[in-house]
This record gives sequence, C-alpha cells and structure tokens, in this order.
Amino acid sequence: MATSSDDTTNADLEPNFDKSEGVTTELSAEEKSLEALASELPQQYEVFNKVSEGGMGAIYKARNRYTKAFSAIKVMRAESDVDEIALQRFIVEAKSASLLNHPNICRVNDFGLTTTNRPYLVMDWIDGISLGAKIQRDLRIAPAEAVTIFKQVATALEHAHQNKVVHRDLKPENIMLTRTADGTTVSHLVDFGIAKVLDETDLTPLGLTQTGVVVGTPLYMSPEQATGGEIDGRTDIYCFGCVMYFVLSGKPPFLGPNFIATINKHLTQAPPEFAPNLKISDNLRLIVFRCMEKKPSDRYQTAAALSADLRNLSLGQNIDVAKLASTRKLEKKRLVTAGFFIVGFIVMYLLSIWMQDFLDAASTKPKPAVHTVEKKR
Ligand SMILES: Nc1ncnc2c1ncn2[C@@H]1O[C@H](COP(=O)(O)OP(=O)(O)O)[C@@H](O)[C@H]1O
Ligand SMILES: [Mg+2]
Repeated sequence: MATSSDDTTNADLEPNFDKSEGVTTELSAEEKSLEALASELPQQYEVFNKVSEGGMGAIYKARNRYTKAFSAIKVMRAESDVDEIALQRFIVEAKSASLLNHPNICRVNDFGLTTTNRPYLVMDWIDGISLGAKIQRDLRIAPAEAVTIFKQVATALEHAHQNKVVHRDLKPENIMLTRTADGTTVSHLVDFGIAKVLDETDLTPLGLTQTGVVVGTPLYMSPEQATGGEIDGRTDIYCFGCVMYFVLSGKPPFLGPNFIATINKHLTQAPPEFAPNLKISDNLRLIVFRCMEKKPSDRYQTAAALSADLRNLSLGQNIDVAKLASTRKLEKKRLVTAGFFIVGFIVMYLLSIWMQDFLDAASTKPKPAVHTVEKKR
C-alpha cells in the first residue's frame, strides 16, 4: 500500500505507522492486498482503500503521486472465474468511455493491464455517494431535487446515445452524486461495463442472451432485455423510468418474490400509481410512466425528447402530452363499450319501430266481409 506522508489531514490517507512505538505495525490482510495491487499497477498510482467490490472486480481510491489527482481505479478480480466475460466488460467500458465526454458522465482516463495481466480502468474520483446509497439513507428524494438529478442523467444519456453508446445497466448504484460549493447536486453516470456500442462489430455486446450470465438487477430491466429482444436507446429510457420511479417513491415499480416474478411484472403489469402523499405532479407522473411503457415505440423515442420534457417541466412549461398506452387502451375500451351500446340502442330502436309497424299493420288489416243474410219478412 502506498503511503501519503505529504497529506496527513485526511484520515483515509494516513500511513500505517504506529506513532507510539515508532515502528510499522504488521499489515492486515487488506493492506497486504492493497500493497500487492499497488505493486502491479504503474508506479505513479498510490492505492489507498477499496471502495466497492462487484462481481467482476473492485474499485479502489487512488492518487497520482505526481499530479496529486485522485482517481478511482477499477481492477478485475485476480481469481475471476469469468475471466473472458470480465475482460470483455472492461474493454467495453474503456471503449464506451473513450467515446464519451460529458459533465454528467464519469471520465475514464486510462485503461491497461497490470503486471499480472489484470485489466484496470482509471477514472476521475467522484467524492460523493451513489444515488442508491442516498435513497437508502433518505428513503426517497423530493420531486424538485429529484428533477434536477433526472435532467442531468437524461442529458448524459442523450450524449451517450448520440455517440451510439447504450448503457444497459442504469440503476441507482450506477449514478453517483456530488455537491458543488454552492450546494447544487451534480450527477455522474458510471459503469459502462455492459454498455453496447451500436453499429460496432468488433465488440461483443455482453448480456443475458449472448453469455447466459444474468447481468444487472431485474428491478430496472426492460421487457426487451428480459426477453432477449432488440436493444437501443429506448432500453435505457425504460430503465431510467424505473430509476426515477424508485427515487421519487423509495420503492421499485416492480418487485416480485424472485427474479422471474419481478421480470414477469415488467412484462405484464402496469406500474402502481404513486401514493398521493408523495405529491408527484401529473406531468412528472406522465414523464416517468411514459418512460416505463412496455413497448419501446410507446416510450420517449429519444433521450433528447425526454430531456426536453424534464427541462420544460422544471420551467413550468408545457410538456409533450402524448397519452400513455394504458390511457389509450382504457379509452379504446370505453369507446368500444360505448359503440356497443349505441349500436345496441339503434338495433333495439329499429326493432321496436318494426314491431310497431307490424302490430299496426296487423290491427288495420281489412276484416273479412261478413255476409249476413237478411231474413225475408
Ligand atoms: N469514479 C468513482 N469515484 C468514486 N466512487 C466510485 C467511482 N466509480 C464507482 N464508484 C463506487 O463504486 C461502486 C461500483 O462501481 P461500478 O463502476 O458500478 O462497478 P461494478 O461493476 O462493481 O458495479 C459505485 O456504486 C460507487 O459507489
Ligand atoms: Mg455498477
């Protein structure tokens, strides 16, 4: 593990030095593994601590010992039993990130292999918490602050999609939040590990169908991802709709007792309405629910259109009030029912007229002549 003797103010960065004894204490297992990692990485990186561990690898806080810039280094697990998939994910993440440059997307600055051939990515250090951690702490986010975050993530998606990158794993844990000095929240989209670069043949998009490995959580998975359908920018829009729903209500829109049950809800059920106490405006509800339409053709067709509506919403201007498929279905049902009644009524009316005519005709029919024979007197 690297020491950082020039920065003693940050407890995180304290060297492992027992001041009372004046000798270095024995290294813990974690410290040993950090040291081992540091020795594998280019020597300009000091490695401080592990911040997160995922299925494929882990994220460490690090610093360039020359520029003093902090970074997050994502390194593939050494004993990864899914080496090939993990390697592909790292390459995909590095490649996608190299195509993107946006204030709400975490920048990837370097990609390489350690001396033991483990892929690693060096990213800007984001000094904040994930949206998932924030919701866990605060339960949910009030609409005004939530819309600020939504607008930023939507512009990040707009930029990614314009550059033909679909994230495919949008979830609260992949959105980091920081605050500027004036208290403004800034969102940063991370983890393009299963992103798909559209129209590229040199990258194998990794996902449910290609690898048999279930990636991501079913809580935010679009119907087309769950069924191995065509993926495009509208897939991210669906996942983002589920994220927005979760942020506003503190609950995922679809949650079953197991993976299959949750997926089944994505495929067949309408999201539950927001509780009235959440005070979600009709227009915000409309935006979120439109993103979560089952059929991609019923959703916002582009992240740019979604961004525009979120912007208009926050400015108090009109949004694109396209009707939701569920509303259209209900209206169609009502229309069919009304039509049925009208036709029924007309048929009944005509029938009654016909019956009346029939009865009238029957009653006015000339009676057969009655011949009476007058008695001769
Ligand atoms: N650039 C970063 N700066 C600080 N923390 C980060 C950064 N990137 C990721 N993290 C933290 O690590 C977690 C996992 O990162 P992610 O890229 O999503 O990896 P994984 O592939 O394991 O999901 C995030 O939820 C966040 O808490
Ligand atoms: Mg992640």
